Amino acid sequence: MESGMKTEMFEELLREFHRIPFDERQARLARWCDLDPQELQILKGVNALPVETAEHFIENVIGVFPIPMGVATYFNIDGRDVFIPMAVEETSIIAAVSATAKWVRKSGGHITTGSRGNLIIGQIQIPFAKDIESSVQSLTAVRNRLMDEANAIVPGLVARGGGVRDLVFRALPREDGTGTMLVIHVMCDPCDAMGANLINQVCEGLKPSIEAVTGEKVGLCILSNLTDGKLAYARVEIPGVDAETGKGIVEATQFAKTDPYRAATHNKGVLNGIDPILIATGNDWRAVEAGVHSFASRNGSYQPVTDWKFENGTLTGEFLAPLAVGTVGGVTMLHPTARLALKIMGVQNAEGLARIAAAAGLVQNLGALKALATVGIVKGHMRLHAANLAIAAGAREEELPRLKEELSSVLSKEKRISLTRAKEILEVLRANTAN
Ligand code: MEV
Repeated sequence: MESGMKTEMFEELLREFHRIPFDERQARLARWCDLDPQELQILKGVNALPVETAEHFIENVIGVFPIPMGVATYFNIDGRDVFIPMAVEETSIIAAVSATAKWVRKSGGHITTGSRGNLIIGQIQIPFAKDIESSVQSLTAVRNRLMDEANAIVPGLVARGGGVRDLVFRALPREDGTGTMLVIHVMCDPCDAMGANLINQVCEGLKPSIEAVTGEKVGLCILSNLTDGKLAYARVEIPGVDAETGKGIVEATQFAKTDPYRAATHNKGVLNGIDPILIATGNDWRAVEAGVHSFASRNGSYQPVTDWKFENGTLTGEFLAPLAVGTVGGVTMLHPTARLALKIMGVQNAEGLARIAAAAGLVQNLGALKALATVGIVKGHMRLHAANLAIAAGAREEELPRLKEELSSVLSKEKRISLTRAKEILEVLRANTAN
């Protein structure tokens, strides 16, 4: 199909997507992503993660934990229309990112992505190096032999085209002032794996040789989550943005660059777009969080991981941070729903997944800043939260639409709603129905 026609079909599938009944929504997704009835059942939770499979993942399994999974809509990334699966409990995230992606699309904007490097880092620490210079000299002399040895520990990875590419030696004055640490960085291409298990095996496997070559005692052997040798990049450019919005978003970024208290929330908004994708694909979101936050602090002060510029009516945003994800290894391929999430995105490899996550994070951040710089966040959040309040107030399925409607009208009049208010309104509605 020609790309213009394909986009037309995609936009047709998205029409009223959040309003149509669940089955119709699934049917439209199935059409675009070529999902079969059994896969749709998995998305409904049937064998989404069988307990027998869960038993292999962790110890002491007592069940599985369901969480809503939705898709972010209206994304066109690097010229490809894509549904982005997100598993998340926060009410406003998918609504906000989809509305913002729609705004980008309808404004004639473009989202492009890329990556910088493909090397993860393993650390081998010598806590008290007696003679740094001579240790580094001895290690440098046998660098190639050590790398061969390292690669022999992970033959499968080498066969897939990955493996250890470099050893970097770092002398660090100890924080407690008692000497110098020597830290060896093992730089490794993990191909499509997140790579934690691989690199940990390599580091521990190299320990005896490092001790023999240096005559020093090795301490910790473990990967670093500050994966700055493997960064994901996303860029969005939107023409014809009004000055109030454009300047407001730039000013909001300035706030985050100036104040770490704001930068933390700014980056939380970015991660709102990333973590749900990691969860949906069975990735280690704690590792990514650690990587993003440490990268944000790399210059000594905690900074935003996105940047926004506004020139001649064009708003441009950029995201750059480590997103160490995998599409093989870990649980991704063993978890039926995670496997499906990759299929929905049409993702071929880890780099593709990281790039989609980077784009979603950037657009999520745009949505938050756009709201904050104009109407504020409460209106949109609380409108969506009304549904949660209605359920929490104890409304039965048939009472929900009416109560949500009432809550929305209270919200627009009084600018706030609460659980107490929801309960009061429910009582009134029930009394009126009884009369
Ligand atoms: C809420 O989950 C995320 C925001 O606080 C992000 C931000 O302030 O940029 C809205």
